[in-house]
Amino acid sequence: MCGIVGAVAQRDVDLILLEGLRRLEYRGYDSAGMCIVSESGALNKVRRVGKVIELSKALADQPLRGHTGLAHTRWATHGGVTEDNAHPHVSHQRISIVHNGIIENFEALRQEIVAAGIELRSQTDSELIAHLIYQQVSSGHSLLDALAATAQRLHGAYALAVMDRDDPSTLVGTRSGSPLVVGIGLGEHFLASDAGALLPVTRQFVYLEEGDLVAIRTDGFEVYDRSMIPVTRELFESSLNADAVDKGGYRHYMLKEIHQQPDVVAETLEGRIIDNHLVADCFGPESEALFAKVEAIHIIACGTSYHAGLVARYWIEAIAGLPCHVEIASEYRYRSPAVPDNTLFVTISQSGETADTLSALREAGRRDYLATMTICNVPESSLIRESDLAFMTRAGVEIGVASTKAFTTQVTALMLFTMALARHHGMSAAQEADLVAELRALPGQIRSILQIETDIARVAEDFTGKEHALFLGRGTEFPIAMEGALKLKEISYIHAEAYAAGELKHGPLALVDDHLPVIVSASSSELLAKLVSNLQEVRARGGQLYIFADQDADLVASDQVHLITLPVNHSTLSPILQTIPLQLLAYYVAVNRGTDVDQPRNLAKSVTVE
Ligand code: G6P
Repeated sequence: MCGIVGAVAQRDVDLILLEGLRRLEYRGYDSAGMCIVSESGALNKVRRVGKVIELSKALADQPLRGHTGLAHTRWATHGGVTEDNAHPHVSHQRISIVHNGIIENFEALRQEIVAAGIELRSQTDSELIAHLIYQQVSSGHSLLDALAATAQRLHGAYALAVMDRDDPSTLVGTRSGSPLVVGIGLGEHFLASDAGALLPVTRQFVYLEEGDLVAIRTDGFEVYDRSMIPVTRELFESSLNADAVDKGGYRHYMLKEIHQQPDVVAETLEGRIIDNHLVADCFGPESEALFAKVEAIHIIACGTSYHAGLVARYWIEAIAGLPCHVEIASEYRYRSPAVPDNTLFVTISQSGETADTLSALREAGRRDYLATMTICNVPESSLIRESDLAFMTRAGVEIGVASTKAFTTQVTALMLFTMALARHHGMSAAQEADLVAELRALPGQIRSILQIETDIARVAEDFTGKEHALFLGRGTEFPIAMEGALKLKEISYIHAEAYAAGELKHGPLALVDDHLPVIVSASSSELLAKLVSNLQEVRARGGQLYIFADQDADLVASDQVHLITLPVNHSTLSPILQTIPLQLLAYYVAVNRGTDVDQPRNLAKSVTVE
């Protein structure tokens, strides 16, 4: 989703801003722009529809020089994808702003600005903010006071960075519902939507809290809370690697991230299992006492993270014997769920900044939960900071919009969570030792599935001309079928649906003919016989079956049955293993169809608006 970079330095900032935008590209966007105060005190801006590369070409023809500037990648909400709607927006050639988020009282503010005789140049909610701030500064308020007064009038989500042509020594910013970090350099300071944008220039960051305002200059910065009381926020030294955003020789980030899975899953397990047991307090020192009290689990997440939660439900109910409810955050936040006594509220998120998941957590805070916990991939993210317990997946930076390694590390973490609960709810030492052994084998098993990549690439060729696909699974492979369908639709734009195989005859069977590929995740569990009956129903109607089965499944290929045997045996962790071929399938179908694999149209990596 939209990305912000701002800089105040003693050198030209155009290249810093451009590199920052490049590093924010993964968030998803459709236009980009930059505005810099020149040495002669003019606001100069360049904006382009499309990728950052288009902006960079425009800047080569029309360079922007100066020591204070703002830049932005826009993901359209109010108003189409046009140059006029791209940020930065400017008011009266004096105030320039970039905005991430969505302003809900947009219409009322628009009418007010139009009534004041100001001609709007865009259809955005963001331009209105520039004019509101201008009105304040032109009536004598400082830029920071003007921002504070304006922020109080905004309903919705925002991260804002603002620049005043008449005082380029200072940039101001604020956030509510969308992230904003301050980067601390030597004789220069920065603002950005995420720390990754600024890694080439600093490793020291301050994460603003909800409602915070900040003023940055070359020689320092000050943070204020929403009542304009000066506050001190903790300084973080980032451990992120500046090279983490390189493709490392792979054609796409997604392919690199698929191949990183053996290592990052091993990383997620590191120090959390020892000998034949789970490390008791790997969910934090308070977790032991807390988990003993837990009587029910509510898991809330969006997108791929939601699918991870769905896998966990099977495990938590079967292994820990605790009722587990899993729900999409955007639904949960607007209803009144019944919360049983001693329920633990759990969010799952790669980014830790997804607006709906964050709002759900805040809703949960108003309800009667035992405690809140997050399973998250980004340290210092809002979910981590606002949850009682936090468990880090260690997937590293994930750039591809379609989540891969974040998912497999989440599901791995969720097995650890299941075991941590089950220790207090009847799991035997032998069962724990078996699960630990399966976890230890996992990285090697993922590695062996990656060995059959070329077989999967060959299968993907059959899908190039297709417009629809159906994914089937049973038990823990049902959420994997959902994840497989999501991957395929996200990056190849083929319409894909997932069904629990047992539901086939209640509707989707009507779709089956000899054009429809049906992709099946078949793990040799007690449900295999049932699944085989469902597959016969597809075959009898001429459907083309693509079955990903483990070695124990003992299925045979035939005319309509393309069998891809995974070089692994069945285990409790089969859903993790079954995910890998579906990721590769989606990837190669997308490559064959020539889509933008890493940044699919209309999608964003980090969805920071509702
Ligand atoms: C977006 C991303 C998905 C992700 C979802 C939830 O839709 O494109 O890949 O699964 O958000 O994001 P989160 O960061 O909360 O896991």
